[in-house]
Amino acid sequence: MSAALTAVMKQEANLLLPTYDRFPVLFERGEGVYLYDSTGRKYLDFLGGIGVNALGYSHPAIQKTIREQSSKLIHISNLFFHRYQAELATLLTGISGLDRAFFCNSGTEAWEGALKLARAYARHISHNSHRPRTGLLVMENSFHGRTFGSLATTGQKKYREPFAPLVPGVTFVRFNDVADLKKKFNDSICALGLETVQGEGGVRPVSREFLATARELTKRSGALLLLDEIQCGLGRTGRYFAYQHYGVKPDILTIAKPLAAGLPLGAILTTSRVSKAFHPGMHGTTFGGGPLACAVACTFVRTLKKHGFLAHIAQTGAYFHKALLGLKGRHPQVGEVRGIGLMLAAQLDSTDLAKAVVKQMLERGFVINRTNDNVLRFLPPYIVEKKHVDRMISALDQVLSANTASPAATRPASRSKP
Ligand SMILES: Cc1ncc(COP(=O)(O)O)c(C=O)c1O
Repeated sequence: MSAALTAVMKQEANLLLPTYDRFPVLFERGEGVYLYDSTGRKYLDFLGGIGVNALGYSHPAIQKTIREQSSKLIHISNLFFHRYQAELATLLTGISGLDRAFFCNSGTEAWEGALKLARAYARHISHNSHRPRTGLLVMENSFHGRTFGSLATTGQKKYREPFAPLVPGVTFVRFNDVADLKKKFNDSICALGLETVQGEGGVRPVSREFLATARELTKRSGALLLLDEIQCGLGRTGRYFAYQHYGVKPDILTIAKPLAAGLPLGAILTTSRVSKAFHPGMHGTTFGGGPLACAVACTFVRTLKKHGFLAHIAQTGAYFHKALLGLKGRHPQVGEVRGIGLMLAAQLDSTDLAKAVVKQMLERGFVINRTNDNVLRFLPPYIVEKKHVDRMISALDQVLSANTASPAATRPASRSKP
């Protein structure tokens, strides 16, 4: 362990709230799909800052925009205009088929805003003449963020329980259980919300039947369909948005993670009809949608729109998916392989094994992630190539073989070429 890492670890232990159990690596810079730590060691990154660094590190177009815009204007309050909110909204409405945008700073803020908009819309269409619908129907095993509304709609007890009581009016449906959805849907529901591909919940795509039923029920009753594509949106699945694989359009969409290529930015997208529920003063943010973040996001979306980029994601993702299935064939500890595009996962047969694999991969110079206890999750930058997939799979193959006999045992790492 380097002296620099030891010093930072000691300082953090005394100074920060104990919210993270970090791996003992001090990253200092990145280039393309690679990260470098304080000792100069190189790592191949298959996590991308949890789905944020979609163009990898030090992307020239992103660097250029940051350089130019930061020398002009970084922040201006939302009391005034700057050029880039309208420009970004034009790009985002163009690729989503929705009409209007609101910009914020993070995923959880986007989801909070979406819930507020849904409640406001229910009130708006009730013309305040009778009690508006307030019910929120959301999914078990979901994840929408750490603020109170997002927590209240996150279907995993471990996140919610320490902070109860939470926002009332929330009912959970078993994800992809059409019968449960039909049973719990009723006229008190103002919004039905889900991730098109559950991320933290283990990379589980919604089924066609479930999403079609969700759209049908909401359309018929006048409730809104909210899709959270904070993790799976903006190209991750090989289309601009995951719902575009299903031929279904939401009333409200939330996005964030890769939107500003590493700077904090989230957004709510919605239809003109739903947008009428908000008027000045009802919702806002100090930092959200600033000129630097929005200018960078415009560069990101334009890069995504470049010829062949989505096809590259889809093709590399399909190649990667097949390689994971190959691993499953060779290793009985590997269960289901799931995901779309470059949002992929392999479920292992124990949490201890998954922990050991992530740790040993890191020791070999590969950044991968574990979620939902025993699921290995991969969210590489979109610029990843087949040769990188081959290297990562070969290392994973070796690590899985080494862990066959005694899963949790930590073996000395022999570094493969990342
Ligand atoms: C689907 C989904 N929604 C919301 C969030 C919360 O985003 P943030 O951490 O930016 O608040 C996340 C974060 O992982 C997510 O994956």
